[in-house]
Amino acid sequence: MKSKLLHISTIGCQMNVYDANQIAGVLAPLGYTGTDAIESADMVVVNTCTIREKAEQKAFSFLGRLAKIKLAKPSLIVAVGGCVAQQEGESILKRMPHVDLVFGTHAIFRLPEMVRRIESSRCRIVDVRLSDTIDADGPVAGPVSDGQVSAFVTIMRGCDNYCTYCVVPHVRGREASRHPERIIEEVRMRVEQGVREVTLLGQNVNSYGSKEGLCSFAELLARVNDVAGLKRIRFTTSHPKDLSGDLIRTFGRLEKLCHHIHLPVQSGDDGILKRMNRKYTRSAYLEKIDGLRSACPDIAITSDFIVGFPGETDGQFQATLDLIETVRYDGLFAFMYSDRPSAPASAFSGKIAESVKHERLQALLDLQEKITWEKHQAIVGRTLQILVEGPSRGLKSDDSDSVSPPTRWSGRASSNHIIHFDVPDDLLAKKELLTGTFADIMIEGAHAHSLWGRLVRQPKNAAPGKGETTIAA
Ligand code: 5AD
Ligand code: SF4
Repeated sequence: MKSKLLHISTIGCQMNVYDANQIAGVLAPLGYTGTDAIESADMVVVNTCTIREKAEQKAFSFLGRLAKIKLAKPSLIVAVGGCVAQQEGESILKRMPHVDLVFGTHAIFRLPEMVRRIESSRCRIVDVRLSDTIDADGPVAGPVSDGQVSAFVTIMRGCDNYCTYCVVPHVRGREASRHPERIIEEVRMRVEQGVREVTLLGQNVNSYGSKEGLCSFAELLARVNDVAGLKRIRFTTSHPKDLSGDLIRTFGRLEKLCHHIHLPVQSGDDGILKRMNRKYTRSAYLEKIDGLRSACPDIAITSDFIVGFPGETDGQFQATLDLIETVRYDGLFAFMYSDRPSAPASAFSGKIAESVKHERLQALLDLQEKITWEKHQAIVGRTLQILVEGPSRGLKSDDSDSVSPPTRWSGRASSNHIIHFDVPDDLLAKKELLTGTFADIMIEGAHAHSLWGRLVRQPKNAAPGKGETTIAA
């Protein structure tokens, strides 16, 4: 079979990253292998996001640039997938004559057949059908790269929550959970491929299985915890209204479950939460935070916030800042509210001026930066166990201009903090001993955005599993 080059450009969340991996996996049997160079590609897939207007604009401007490349190379197949494809469908073909294929968020498993048709007859295709089930049509996990320590595993897709600002239920369809057996199979396969950490993915993992009468999310975690060779489990994302006592107690009970939860709150004001249709109050949220911290005192908590939701007053924004002071998050993502035409809030009155949104965003980020810096300083002097991932970003060992291998490596602590450390020379020579192993790092310094330390060389107390190594003196 003729070998062909595939370039996938991914914008957006972890779901899109997982989808990109699936796309690579389903197209491999057609002879496609990945390339970073768009110019040499035979097919380009633009995996789009529409959560905010900016992400959508980014997708369209990238597609615009592809028109020139296609002009120089008419055989190039241009495919648009992801949430913009789902939302816009046929109109993308009308608007962009250089696009050959528009495929929605549930159409990935039909890609091989569509691509074959385009290759043989140069037709143009749109497939944005949504289905209510998930196991029958994938997901199919794609390839892993060399030395990959961590992988995503989708456990469900879609969302039934209809937060009034959000486009996800409209572009990812109804909530549907995968059968636990399929999930465990995929986790086992990843471990056999060398992965040591999985992140279970869903828009609202806390309601996993409830619709289909499968097991609860806490039970699923216990089953994943039993997979031999797996070292760590993470999950994202959680909806506070569905965070059960059972799940809270799971932290600190399952040894592989990392001590970190991402619990998006969006606002600290009850009136705004109500108009966002979040279905919890500030005090109910704070109770859950207390519960998490009693069950697992060192749990790291992160969150998402939207500033400038329609009608948000200065007082309501202050309530958000006050919530951040109260919880003292380990980190957060903050976004300026963005109108999405298919989401109800786009028709709400009281739209906030861009300049006010900018000011509020900056005030929120400044406050969090101060908190993060203080929390980081409190870590200095402590020893944290990290799972080593490889050379620190921007310092990949295959950098063509680097003469010697990079000595600065990084990994993540259970809390999800990225920790940098210098690898001693003798270990550098056998770097395969480092990737995917646990290492103890004495934290020596911290800024608001980074932490670094020194490798503590002691025999590990965690006994290595079959085929594993730990960094020992
Ligand atoms: N405008 C701004 N931010 C949004 N998010 C979702 N929809 C919007 C929107 N219309 C944010 C929420 C969510 C995160 C993934 O993106 O904070 O948790
Ligand atoms: Fe969007 Fe709300 Fe569903 Fe999250 S829970 S994906 S914010 S509708």
